[in-house]
Amino acid sequence: MINDKKVILSGIQPSGDSLTLGNYMGALKNWVKLQDEYSCVYMIANMHTITLRQEPAKLRARTLSLLAQYIAAGLDPEKNVFFIQSQVSAHAELAWILNCYTQMGELSRMTQFKDKSQKHADNINAGLFDYPVLMAADILLYQADMVPVGKDQKQHIELTRDIAQRFNGIYGDVFTIPDPYIAPPSAGSNIMGLQDPTSKMSKSDPNPNGCIYILDPPEVIIRKIKRAVTDSEAEVAYREGKDGVNNLLTIYSVATGKSIDEAVAEFVGKGYGDFKAAVGEATAECLRPIQEKYNDLMKNKDYLESVYRSGGDTARRIAGRTLAKVQKKVGFIL
Ligand code: TRP
Repeated sequence: MINDKKVILSGIQPSGDSLTLGNYMGALKNWVKLQDEYSCVYMIANMHTITLRQEPAKLRARTLSLLAQYIAAGLDPEKNVFFIQSQVSAHAELAWILNCYTQMGELSRMTQFKDKSQKHADNINAGLFDYPVLMAADILLYQADMVPVGKDQKQHIELTRDIAQRFNGIYGDVFTIPDPYIAPPSAGSNIMGLQDPTSKMSKSDPNPNGCIYILDPPEVIIRKIKRAVTDSEAEVAYREGKDGVNNLLTIYSVATGKSIDEAVAEFVGKGYGDFKAAVGEATAECLRPIQEKYNDLMKNKDYLESVYRSGGDTARRIAGRTLAKVQKKVGFIL
């Protein structure tokens, strides 16, 4: 609890040039609705990002840009705590301690580790292996009740719970056991790639037309949607087997606030050309105010700095309390 409210913590890595439409519709847009009811803490997970090699200047620029994107998406810095993971040394310190309560076997089973070590076979570093323990520290330091994540992160939350329960079993109630919070698909949590609508929209999609970035200019958004893979039936309907059309209908529904049924009704008797043009326009329109706000924010670096400085102070205070408790429990002299 922070100020009598349940705690939500989540983080995004500053790893791409901008967030994707999937990140926005599936995550940030829903987080805006949580900001009054919960104490929300959002982190820019730059320590996770260096598990893959980064250019320092780019990492720095992307960190600030991600903060501006969080705010531009509607998350109010007066209501949410924003900070950069590396500002708070307690993350690394708690991760070390938790390492000693995590088994090699558990980490070897993480599917993300297996995927990433296959993709980056030339750099399977210890950080990549240990990544879920750092993530457990991120979550447990803030005594988070709920962690909004995509499906791909669920296994990491389960491991976090296991580590926390193990630690509590030995030392008493030190950590709150967090629950994953996965938004329902109707809330846009399942935005798929435009070129391969059977897999999640991803910034690492090798096909540049597969993924919309929230900072893509309107004409690029419209073009990418025009080129989206559909099917040969020429019927705008939402049903199994129509992955491409289903995905475009979901995007349209989230962008306009209309239900899927309303969206389908609008396109009865229309071809895919008209349908895609409408989805493209609606998506560009939905992102336009975010882009405007983003551009304003990026002109005001002092403001952005003040946000992460004050967020960092708050985060250090909360995290420091948990860390001190843990250190005492394990027998460290402070
Ligand atoms: N691993 C997450 C991802 O890549 C990012 C992340 C880091 C995170 N620490 C976290 C998410 C803590 C939720 C809670 O998507």
